[in-house]
Amino acid sequence: MPRGALISEASTRLLVPESHSVRGPGARTGPVFFNEQMAFNRDVSVMFLRAAPAGVSVADAMSATGSRAVRIANEVPGSRVTANDISPESVEFIEENIRLNGLDNCSASNLDMHALFSGESFEYVDLDPFGSPVPFIHSAIRGCRRKGILAITATDTAPLAGAHAPKCRRRYQCEPLRGYMCHEGGLRILMCNIARELAKFDRGMRPLLSFYADHYFRTYVRVEEGAEAADRSLSSLAYAGMDGATLERSLSPEPDAGHRLGPVWAGPLHDPGHLSRMSPEGMAEPKRCAKMLDLWMGELDSVFLYDMSELSSHTKMSPPKLEDLIDLLGMHGRASKTHVCPTSFKTDLGAADVVSLYREASMRANGGR
Ligand SMILES: C[S@@+](CC[C@H](N)C(=O)[O-])C[C@H]1O[C@@H](n2cnc3c(N)ncnc32)[C@H](O)[C@@H]1O
Repeated sequence: MPRGALISEASTRLLVPESHSVRGPGARTGPVFFNEQMAFNRDVSVMFLRAAPAGVSVADAMSATGSRAVRIANEVPGSRVTANDISPESVEFIEENIRLNGLDNCSASNLDMHALFSGESFEYVDLDPFGSPVPFIHSAIRGCRRKGILAITATDTAPLAGAHAPKCRRRYQCEPLRGYMCHEGGLRILMCNIARELAKFDRGMRPLLSFYADHYFRTYVRVEEGAEAADRSLSSLAYAGMDGATLERSLSPEPDAGHRLGPVWAGPLHDPGHLSRMSPEGMAEPKRCAKMLDLWMGELDSVFLYDMSELSSHTKMSPPKLEDLIDLLGMHGRASKTHVCPTSFKTDLGAADVVSLYREASMRANGGR
């Protein structure tokens, strides 16, 4: 049995390396990786799969200690799970975690994920690499059965969110969005990349849940079969433009002088039906899960968001309460909070209306200061 520390996450017991990451992006502290802060990410996988049809075959391609795979096998009734990792030390932890939880529906595998998916396919494929998932997406698609689900994490936030634009161009062939839109943009660039990879196989995608949290992006997409589905997905890609003088945002199917950012996935982030079946009951972080489910459910499906600081510096007027502004916007159009940032919101109103309603809300709250 490998040496480590015993912890509990939700109803699952886990042996993890004594030296492991507790917060942040998760540094490699030893031969086997574990990050406590990703408990929420694993909660979401369990809630997500409990809301999917029962009896799903799951491949956790890069399992490390097997924490996600073992939680799925233990907490999602009817699941059949393969917990794979290229590292033999990781597989020792995976085997011990299967034993600790007395599971007969989870098996350990010690393959390069490219080899795993050249020989076998699954209904749900999970990718959680160090950094960018780009080098692995092609193989994950091969390992995903017809109409299966791909669940992909990206922790290379700096390139995707524009702090390292050359790397984003190289890796994703996209121009990142910067400033207040950077995290929404990063998520949608990741999704654009998945849609483009799927299209090479004449497959399309329908996002079921996509989000930014802590230091990573994560999306769950249902794979759709056929050239038409692929074309439909590609037609959901668009270039974004933001005019600093007016704050006007717009999308264009082709790049031009005013639309140089992206391309981004401009389709929906979530499937409301799937979200409505997800429950935080029994999760490791039930309060956070409930809060995020609410935010995802209520969020408008718009590519663009506005931030209170952006409007404050544009108008030189102090911000009103976000809730008050959203209420006022909601009287003229649609408006919602967004999960990517607590000081941002989404609306289907144009920038001129947003600015004028911000002024009105600020006057009411602060008397125009
Ligand atoms: C970020 S860790 C995974 C964390 C894990 N999903 C969790 O929730 O704790 C990435 C893992 O990918 C594994 N890995 C890297 N390249 C791989 C490959 N080509 N095939 C399979 N596993 C690989 C590493 O050994 C490492 O354990």
